[in-house]
Amino acid sequence: MDNRKFIIEETPFVKGDVLISGSKNAALPIMAAALLTSEKCVLKNIPPLRDIIIMENILNILNVKTDFLTNNCVINIKGENLSPTLDHSELMGKIRASFLTAGSLLTRFGKAKLSLPGGCSIGTRPIDLHLKGFSKLGAEVSKEFGIVELKAKKLKGAEIYLDFPSVGATENIIMAAVKADGITTISNAAQEPEITDLCNFLIKMGAEIEGQGTDTVKITGVKELHGTEYTVIPDRIEAGTFMIIGAASGEVTVKGVRPDHLRPVVNKLSEMGASVTEKSDEITVKSTGRIKNADIKTLPYPGFPTDMQPQFMSLMTTGSGTGIINETIFENRFLHAGELNRMGADIKTEGNGAVIRGVERLTGTKIKATDLRAGAALIISAISAMGITEISNIEHIERGYYNIDKKLKNLGVKIKKC
Ligand code: UD1
Repeated sequence: MDNRKFIIEETPFVKGDVLISGSKNAALPIMAAALLTSEKCVLKNIPPLRDIIIMENILNILNVKTDFLTNNCVINIKGENLSPTLDHSELMGKIRASFLTAGSLLTRFGKAKLSLPGGCSIGTRPIDLHLKGFSKLGAEVSKEFGIVELKAKKLKGAEIYLDFPSVGATENIIMAAVKADGITTISNAAQEPEITDLCNFLIKMGAEIEGQGTDTVKITGVKELHGTEYTVIPDRIEAGTFMIIGAASGEVTVKGVRPDHLRPVVNKLSEMGASVTEKSDEITVKSTGRIKNADIKTLPYPGFPTDMQPQFMSLMTTGSGTGIINETIFENRFLHAGELNRMGADIKTEGNGAVIRGVERLTGTKIKATDLRAGAALIISAISAMGITEISNIEHIERGYYNIDKKLKNLGVKIKKC
């Protein structure tokens, strides 16, 4: 068990620039998509995060050659000797994205055998929509003893309607359809920028895809895909997290971002009274005094992202008035509320609703990061809380934020990792 902690001292005013890393959630499916060819793919702007390294390990178990130049954030992937079996429950259980290899394996071999990815602390996270999609494409699906087996003589294009616009299911089905016979249409598809990024990468590999970034994605099966080079998009969630730090505690400019991917965050911060100014690839967020609490409902993109919900809850703990959060994507995503209450916040949760009554100040104490974004929320609060805050279980935070302590130090935050 990893016992490292962040010790954060109250920092009255943060100020500076942060260069945003590549998107973890775009990089993971793109790494899985690189398995669709036996040729080499060169992926750039890949942050050497814990989840990415786990995905690299998974590719290695599949007999894929990788070379991760972590200083340059470039990974070379060559799936020449790819194997169709990923029967490794420990690694598969570590990240949900491990299951994103299923679509590529099915396309390469017409079969795949994978351990189930398991649940996680924010919800049960089933994979039924992925499996329904595969079976619509002609795959036989069986699930026994914690193993999913997929078999298809020939994958055939199909019309697939998703009951919910699941990000992972949309990605997996696209990867299973790129070489299927004929046309596949996914209706009620997820529209997240990470889906568009995956499709842009696949198009560079030779795939024919239209409608990415809308609720209807059309994939026309092609005979072959080839190796290519690709640069992944900046991480909108990392950017949003630092923007909140600006709104809560001073002035932060996030650089190298895509403002069009951050619309819900920019709008909510403006509504709450922060000053937000945009240039083509940077956004500056300044605190203008106490934030005005607001209501938030998480929704699939382009709605408000669930991955920003904990950070906004943290911002509202010291805002004026009352804010209400309705979490509609995950059933158990308020674990941070209890930790924030330990710091003196006034949050009540019931089911998928939370009521946050703003208090004047929080105070430092010993708290625990329960998951990735919950951990980010605790950092936001620790920066302005009176005294010293000790955050344990920081391995969760390091799954998704590259060099977060260094980036915070550059803003003047008094943070130590020990
Ligand atoms: C991805 C992101 C995650 C983000 C989430 C929602 C990655 C690596 N992770 O996760 O950070 O929080 O999108 O924006 O990109 N569901 C089903 N059946 C399925 C699949 C999903 O019921 O087969 C449900 C889930 O339990 C959840 C909801 O759909 O309640 C959303 O899940 P989904 O969009 O699939 O999220 P992920 O792809 O797992």
